[in-house]
Amino acid sequence: MDAVIPLPDMRNTITTDVAYCQKLLRSNALVAIPTETVYGLAANIYNDEAVRKIFEMKGRPLFNPLIVHIHHLDQLSSLVKSVPEAAIKLAGRFWPGPLTLILEKQNVVSDLVTAGKSTLALRMPNHPLTLELLRGLDFPIAAPSANPFTRVSSTSAQHVADYFGDRIPAILDGGPCTVGLESTIVGFDGSTAVVYRKGGISLEAIEAYVGEVRLLTQNENAPQAPGMLAKHYSPRTKLVLSDDVLKTMKDFVNHEIGVLAFYESSFANAKVVETLSEERDLVEAAQNLFAALHRLDQADLDIIIAQRFPNEGLGISINDRLERAME
Ligand code: TXA
Ligand code: MG
Repeated sequence: MDAVIPLPDMRNTITTDVAYCQKLLRSNALVAIPTETVYGLAANIYNDEAVRKIFEMKGRPLFNPLIVHIHHLDQLSSLVKSVPEAAIKLAGRFWPGPLTLILEKQNVVSDLVTAGKSTLALRMPNHPLTLELLRGLDFPIAAPSANPFTRVSSTSAQHVADYFGDRIPAILDGGPCTVGLESTIVGFDGSTAVVYRKGGISLEAIEAYVGEVRLLTQNENAPQAPGMLAKHYSPRTKLVLSDDVLKTMKDFVNHEIGVLAFYESSFANAKVVETLSEERDLVEAAQNLFAALHRLDQADLDIIIAQRFPNEGLGISINDRLERAME
């Protein structure tokens, strides 16, 4: 048994060495992994001690279940009891990709991973390095987003390093995340698809495959998906979501203001402006969202005024994140 792995210089926790990260995961250490959505904080799902480290590192309450990451559909049968028709359709279309499915779990999956629920959240991420990492392991990995509980998710290896420094043995560097929003989470109520979290796949795209979806209401949300707490994705700087940025700016005279805008770049009296897509492209805006929030949070501002996005496509998911960032 390789109990002790010699660690490289701890200042170099950011690495592209997949084999090294596999070794760490096999010895029940944590590794931060790149995905197309956001970076994850990963551990072997079959080792409770390793999984517990995830909760400790994030300061995450144990009642909030984790997403399990796989690389092949063959892995499903050992993890879940059955896969509804609609889930097969969605996985066939969107995996690997920013979609998480909630399915009835097999007993082999520990209560720590699912927070005692009878269901398991599963996803096949679409990132070449992480797929390579997973293919070389004989266990799936559990990975929540790599950020302290309630804070803005990480979309680069540097964001993860800024949060956790060398408390994580390795951060696998896969570059900036191409989607930039967490996965869309879908469960099933009979033959109806139920959206637990809006995310990197738009509601319209899901509905094109499985017909009309049901959105979980806030009330249902709380007990069923405790991670969807009102406060989430929050910068330390106060943030307000606005339908009219220039008007909202008037409420904050004599404040150092940062503006998070869709496509406009000039706002008189703003100290900093982050424009998410000059081309007015919601996919590009989603990709840039969290990095812009990280930068705004480091700019010593009194207030971040975020512009409300168009209520369509990924704009719906972006607004969801901004609403929670505001709480
Ligand atoms: O894109 C993503 O999904 C990223 C990357 C790393 O894969 N992961 C991620 O994980 O966002 P996390 O832990 O930050 O968010 C997972 C959400 C939580 O809100 C949790 O409550 C919910 O998934 N969840 C997990 N298992 C669940 C279950 N069995 N039923 C309902 N919700 C569940
Ligand atoms: Mg998260």
